[in-house]
Amino acid sequence: MSQGVALIVLGTAAAAAAHVAQRIADAVSRDPATVLGLATGGTMLPVYALLAAARQRGDLSFSAATSFNLDEYVGLGLGHAASFAAFMAGALFGPVDFDPGRTHLPNGLAPDLMAEAARYEAAILAAGPIGLQLLGIGRNGHIGFNEPGTAFDSVTRVVRLSFSTRAANRPFFPVGEAVPEQALTMGIGTILRAREIVLLATGAAKAVAVAQAIAGPAGPHSPASALRHHGAATFVCDRAAASRLDPRLWQRSVHA
Ligand code: PGA
Repeated sequence: MSQGVALIVLGTAAAAAAHVAQRIADAVSRDPATVLGLATGGTMLPVYALLAAARQRGDLSFSAATSFNLDEYVGLGLGHAASFAAFMAGALFGPVDFDPGRTHLPNGLAPDLMAEAARYEAAILAAGPIGLQLLGIGRNGHIGFNEPGTAFDSVTRVVRLSFSTRAANRPFFPVGEAVPEQALTMGIGTILRAREIVLLATGAAKAVAVAQAIAGPAGPHSPASALRHHGAATFVCDRAAASRLDPRLWQRSVHA
């Protein structure tokens, strides 16, 4: 098993997002029926905006592609503005031409959450492998909603969200409404089955998590450090997110 991740550092968050959008566009152009693993979070908005613009220009079509999102809050569905289903509808699925029957998120409204987790994992296995998995990273190093302490062979399941994750997502919820305490998430083992993984991190708030994931001791305290075991994982960072790493690790730096 090869060790380590590729690291690409670009000058700005916009340049990092453009690099990731191009990788997704290339994957879909190479194989229109590709299976994409998709992520939510503010970091992804400029990536999805660029993909929507490419679709608008007629340069790109997702009509034959399949997607699986990483996670969803327990108790929320498309009808709630802070759900990941609503995020994806607004940011990507509405603006581009995915076949709605081929876009998948865990169902946070399922009456039997454990059965839903098993169903989702089986659906990924049946449609997969995921060709390109897109990831963000939490300030605490989480990937998907796999919080510190998660086993690297974990699969899709119900998880309890950490205080820091709930605090980070607080701004997406109406004033007075609590952030859900639980979520459904692909496991780290689920994520590691993807052929290729691209993690996008922008902004200084991610710098410690990125440095721990790439250059600290690997282990469950740093969920993103699991990517070092994958063999085809790339961290794409802006300068702020890479600022706690030794610049000698940087493969490429564009001073935009
Ligand atoms: P963010 O979330 O893009 O909103 O920072 C990333 C994550 O928690 O995975």
